[in-house]
Amino acid sequence: MLKSKTITIAGGTGFLGQVLIEYLKTRVKHIYVLSRNYKPNSKQVTYLIWDGKSQGPWIAALESSEVLINLSGKSVDCRYTPKNKKAIIASRVASTRALGVAMHHCKTPPELWINASTGTIYEHSESTPMDENNGRLGNSFSEEVAKRWEKTFFDFYIKDVRQVAIRIAIVLGRKGGALQPIKAISKLGLGGQQGNGNQQISWLHEEDFARAVAFIITHPDQEGVFNLAAPLPIRNRHFMEKIRAILNVPLGINLPKPLLELGAALIKTETELLLKSRYVQPKRLLQAGFRHKFTSPELALKDLLT
Ligand SMILES: NC(=O)c1ccc[n+]([C@@H]2O[C@H](COP(=O)([O-])OP(=O)(O)OC[C@H]3O[C@@H](n4cnc5c(N)ncnc54)[C@H](OP(=O)(O)O)[C@@H]3O)[C@@H](O)[C@H]2O)c1
Repeated sequence: MLKSKTITIAGGTGFLGQVLIEYLKTRVKHIYVLSRNYKPNSKQVTYLIWDGKSQGPWIAALESSEVLINLSGKSVDCRYTPKNKKAIIASRVASTRALGVAMHHCKTPPELWINASTGTIYEHSESTPMDENNGRLGNSFSEEVAKRWEKTFFDFYIKDVRQVAIRIAIVLGRKGGALQPIKAISKLGLGGQQGNGNQQISWLHEEDFARAVAFIITHPDQEGVFNLAAPLPIRNRHFMEKIRAILNVPLGINLPKPLLELGAALIKTETELLLKSRYVQPKRLLQAGFRHKFTSPELALKDLLT
């Protein structure tokens, strides 16, 4: 069923886009990627220029695609200054809107539109699992970003188009994403707990991210909101212990909140990325029959770090 699909991925040049392309390129008919920069094409992948906010000749790619996936968005790994906050919101809302308008213009739009969202949409929770039905949405900046992103997406109604918002947990990858800087600081002996270490990390192995997207594509009865996370989160303290054990680094200096605040200001990021407790449950995926390949953090970390 995948073999017959042509897929357009907006924002496909980033970490998750490349993971998805690597997984899908031999399984689907063709992939178009919408990017703001020129990239060399390959046999399976054609890169097209767009600006992430307005219409252009790239709309032709949608006419010949069965699936549109939008992963565009300025990285949140920055200081939340007024300027950066504006850019974080605008890059998500404007790209989603540009794609929605383009879908309306298509004679035959893709039958499935998957739009990225984030597991960060749920409020800070150390012990209450948040699934798609009972999860409480938060009101902090990053939670508001996610809500506006999803609202923009679901405000579009395109006849006969299935819409799926994927609330993505922290994806653990070999070449990108959050695991790589954590690996680097752990090797320096700084891989102790961050903050009080009680915060839950909702995570997902990169291969399971790609498998979950493929699962959604091949299950035409599934639509709406999906949490893309491993079945169980892990507390920060235990996550760091496992990383140290796998890397064989006995020293793991703890990083209390005030020290993290200082470090984050120096390297121009926010501590929320490390300290917020995310307890996301992939209830709908599991109910629909998806089975993760990497169910335990140990399995995932061993696979990615060794
Ligand atoms: N990685 C995770 O663990 C994770 C977890 C939850 C949610 N997410 C969300 O999933 C999406 C993809 O994540 P990722 O890790 O692949 O991010 P990424 O590596 O930062 O890639 C995002 C892509 O978005 C495009 N982009 C950046 N600024 C843009 C703008 N102003 N307008 C239009 N496009 C812009 C870039 O493509 P070009 O430069 O080629 O245009 C970039 O390659 C993001 O929206 C992210 O918030 C990721």
